[in-house]
Amino acid sequence: KSTAPVLILKKAAARKLLPVISEQDHKGSRGRSLILAGSAQFPGAAVLAAKAALRMGSGYVCVAQKNVSISSLENPDFLVADLNKTPWQEIQFNSVLVGPGFGINDFTASVIQQLKQAQVENVVLDADALRVCADEKLFPVPDQWILTPHAAEMGYCLGINSSDVNSDREASIREGHALMGGVVLLKGHRTLIFSGKDVYTNATGNSALAKSGTGDVLAGIITALRAQGLSALKAALLGAYVHGATANLWKAHKKDLISMTASDVIDYLPEVLFRIR
Ligand code: APR
Ligand code: MG
Repeated sequence: KSTAPVLILKKAAARKLLPVISEQDHKGSRGRSLILAGSAQFPGAAVLAAKAALRMGSGYVCVAQKNVSISSLENPDFLVADLNKTPWQEIQFNSVLVGPGFGINDFTASVIQQLKQAQVENVVLDADALRVCADEKLFPVPDQWILTPHAAEMGYCLGINSSDVNSDREASIREGHALMGGVVLLKGHRTLIFSGKDVYTNATGNSALAKSGTGDVLAGIITALRAQGLSALKAALLGAYVHGATANLWKAHKKDLISMTASDVIDYLPEVLFRIR
């Protein structure tokens, strides 16, 4: 086991990372997030990530899919684009999320390959994108890409099972980073973050987050922070902090931990951010 100290982001440090508010702000200056997520089978993942990105401050959010599965009319807060008509290269963005519910298929692989080839820096890979990278040997990714595996996804990439990952999470994230590159965020109780230098752990959050869709929300939050100019490491650290803090606030509001949903995480973000700032 490694004996190097594990660092923790505290509230005062989180405050310093929060996107600054100015009277001169306009939607263009708050960053454009492109969400390549969701599919006919999993339409909800994209909606959760997009709504989370908006609540995390992104000025524009666009969900783009190959066969559009969600209604723009029912989701007026963000744009919906059809990748059959508009390839991602024609969409303006400052950061891009690939993965949640997007499908484990050749199309997902080709998008990731194209993003690499085009040397796009601000990329967040989650869920299906991670499995595709493992299957198609697309690792390692560039230093400024962010990878957000849960224990099973990390295990899949490393060729081990999730209980092996969780039996020594620090060793696993170091191994994962050596294989995958980028900034790695290993989700779960005590999320770990590693960019090759120090290992950080996130002290916020609780088991209220053990509900499907909360990972998609985290991916959207981190993508919005990247779009607003935070480095990959800072976006991962602050993203994990505020995501977990919604669950702490849920508990503080005397709500039972079994009841929180992914949409509640999104709904609690504004108060979490207000309290940190
Ligand atoms: N304590 C603290 N945080 C927790 C806990 C806990 N006990 N349980 C879960 N979380 C947090 C994780 O740290 C992470 O941020 O909730 C989030 C869960 O994310 P995922 O595991 O990615 O779950 P999610 O994506 O919402 O699940 C939907 O996506 O990745 C696929 O296979 C996955 O089918 C699943 C689907
Ligand atoms: Mg997930």
